[in-house]
Amino acid sequence: MSEQELALKVLKDGRGIEVRCYEPNDFEALVSMYANLSEETLRWAMPPYHREKIASWVADLPNSIMLVAVSENKIVGHLMVTTMDSPRVRYTGELHVYLHQDFQNVGLGAIMVREGLSLAKKRGMHRVGLFVVADNERAIRLYEKLGFEREGLRPETDITDDGRYHDLVVMGILLWSLERHPVEKTRRTNRRWGT
Ligand SMILES: CC(C)(COP(=O)(O)OP(=O)(O)OC[C@H]1O[C@@H](n2cnc3c(N)ncnc32)[C@H](O)[C@@H]1OP(=O)(O)O)[C@@H](O)C(=O)NCCC(=O)NCCS
Repeated sequence: MSEQELALKVLKDGRGIEVRCYEPNDFEALVSMYANLSEETLRWAMPPYHREKIASWVADLPNSIMLVAVSENKIVGHLMVTTMDSPRVRYTGELHVYLHQDFQNVGLGAIMVREGLSLAKKRGMHRVGLFVVADNERAIRLYEKLGFEREGLRPETDITDDGRYHDLVVMGILLWSLERHPVEKTRRTNRRWGT
């Protein structure tokens, strides 16, 4: 998918979905998606995802990748890869993906992450990383399936709505590895650190 194109996809349950780059007119629909996320969806998240926070995400569009999934004129999925200003880290980004609860576990996350990584690669990015709560097994399964590796653990970092500390898993993918292993994870052979 190029920056201007749509990806029309079919989910595992047969529903059709449009995945495309965010446009300024999408703002209210994106605010609405986050306002309507269930408690379960937000279980491992860092709310609040209110209007001001979402405005800050879209304020830096030229330096980020922002995709939305649209069904019946509603935004039901959001992915972004943010980058930092410093030239020393300009080829690395951090990934964030959220789906409305009615569209989880039917393959949309995989579609969006694949499209996001593909766009990141086309933009010349080198690495995409993320942090995920260690108990978020579905998300970790998805990231590993698409080639992300577990790079480390930050013990007892997040306090979630159960009032307890949870570990954060640090994950990342080097985008050159996508050519050789487009879908399933295969371990890198040139690691400098660890085993
Ligand atoms: C996490 C999230 C992005 C995943 O996207 P998704 O569309 O639901 O996931 P997919 O259907 O593409 O793939 C999920 C995979 O995990 C598997 N899975 C589902 N529940 C699981 C569980 N509890 N434990 C392990 N694996 C699980 C599925 O079988 C599927 O694997 P498969 O394709 O090999 O069968 C989405 O569920 C979501 O938005 N969740 C809430 C917000 C969130 O946690 N975001 C990530 C923050 S880091």
